[in-house]
Amino acid sequence: MSRFAEPQDPAFREMNTSLGFDRRLWPQDVAQSRAHARMLAARGIISDEDRDALLQGLDAVEAELRDGTFPFGAEDEDIHMAVERRLTEVVGRVGGKLHTARSRNDQVATDVALFTRGAAQDAIAAIEDVMRALVDAAEAHLDWPLPGYTHLQRAQPVYLSHHLLAYVWMLDRDRARFRFTVEQTARLPLGAGALAGVNFDTDRRMVAEELGFAGGPAPNSIDAVANRDFVLDYLSAAATCATHLSRLGAEIVLWSSEEFGFVTLSDAWSSGSSIMPQKKNPDAAELLRAKAPRIVGHLQALHGVVHALPLTYNKDLQEDKEHLFDTVDTLRLCLAAAAGMVRGARFRRERMAEAASDELIAATDLADLLVKRGVPFRECHGIIAGLVRTAVEEGRTLSEVAVPELGEEAGAVLASSSWLESKVSEGGTSLARVREQLELARALVA
Ligand code: ARG
Repeated sequence: MSRFAEPQDPAFREMNTSLGFDRRLWPQDVAQSRAHARMLAARGIISDEDRDALLQGLDAVEAELRDGTFPFGAEDEDIHMAVERRLTEVVGRVGGKLHTARSRNDQVATDVALFTRGAAQDAIAAIEDVMRALVDAAEAHLDWPLPGYTHLQRAQPVYLSHHLLAYVWMLDRDRARFRFTVEQTARLPLGAGALAGVNFDTDRRMVAEELGFAGGPAPNSIDAVANRDFVLDYLSAAATCATHLSRLGAEIVLWSSEEFGFVTLSDAWSSGSSIMPQKKNPDAAELLRAKAPRIVGHLQALHGVVHALPLTYNKDLQEDKEHLFDTVDTLRLCLAAAAGMVRGARFRRERMAEAASDELIAATDLADLLVKRGVPFRECHGIIAGLVRTAVEEGRTLSEVAVPELGEEAGAVLASSSWLESKVSEGGTSLARVREQLELARALVA
C-alpha cells in the first residue's frame, strides 16, 4: 500500500530524485547499515539470525555496487532506497527490518558526515604533497634572486626559496582548516531518527565506535538531522585553499610568459595551440586561477540553502551534495595540478637575476643607509626619492646619481645581492633566515 493514489509527475520525479549524484555515497551507506544491523541485534531489537541475513545480503549488494552490476531501478529515489530495495530482493522480507529505528534523515546525515570526513582527510594528504613539492623546490633554489613585487611593480629582491615558501605557510593554514573539518564530523547523527529520537533503546555509542565517530553520538536529535555545518566547513576550507592555488596559478601564468621568463613548465602540464605551432600554454595554471571561484560559488550556494531553513530536515538539504561532490573533485584536481606544476617547473636563473639586479629596487636599502647615519627615515625617503627621480629623468643609473652624493658606501649597497643579505630580520629573505624557515617548513610535513 501507498499513501498516494496517483503516480508522481515525471518532472517532479526528475527534480526530486538524487540517485544520479548520491549513488557515490554507497560505501558509506553500506558501512552504516552494517553497523546499524549489528547494533539492532546487540540490543535484542532484531534476532541474531536476522542480523546475519542482513549482513550477508549487504555483502552481496556491496559486491554488485563495487563491480558495477547493481541493478538500479526507475523507482529508486536515492541511494538509501536503492540499497534497501535491492537488499530486500536478495534476502527477502527480513530486508525490511534494516530500517527499524532509523530514518533517511539521520541516515543521510550520517553518510554525508562519513563522506566529508574522508574527503577532508584526502585533502590534507594532497595539501601535504603540494607542501612537499614546494619545500623541495625551495631547497633546490635557495639562493636564486628575483624581484619581489607589490602592485606587480618590482619592489625589493628576494630569494626564490623565500617566495615559494610563502605558499607553504598558506597551505599549512589550509590544512588546519581541513583538520577542523574532520573534527566537525566527529559526532554521529544516526539514532536521531526522523528528528525526535526512536522508540527503541538503541546503543548509539556502539554505532559511533564502529563508524569512527570519535565524539560519540550527536547529543541533540533535532540538531543531528538539521546539521550540515561540516559540509559548510569543508567548502569553506576548500574555497580558501582553491583561492590560494589561484594565486599560485596566476603567478605561474605570469612567470611563464616570455615577458617575465622566470619559469618554463614541463610538457606534462602544458598544452599547445591548434593554430600557432610555437605556443606552449600554461592551461593548468590558468585553470587553477579559474576553478577557485567555482568552489567559492559552491560555498555561497550552500550558505543560501541553509539560510533561514526551519529545523529540522527539509528537502532543501538534498542540495548539499552536488556542491560538496563537485568541490571534492575540483579540489583534488587543483591540488594535483599544483604539485605537478611545481615539481616539473624549470626556473630560469639568469632571467630572474637580471630582473632583480635593477638598481631601483634597492632604493629602500639606500634610504636605510642614511638612517644608519642618523637621518630620520622620513627624510631619507624624500632624499632617495629625489635621487631616483633625477636618475629616471636624466636617463642615468641610480649609482651614477647616488655615489657622488652619498659616497662609495652607496655603491656597495647597490652592488648585486647586498640588499638581499641585509634582510636579516626574522622571517626575512637573507639566506640565514631562509634556511631557518626552510627547516620549519620541512618540519611541517615531516
Ligand atoms: N535523498 C535525500 C537527501 O539527500 C535523503 C533524505 C530524504 N529524507 C526525506 N525525509 N525525504 O537529503
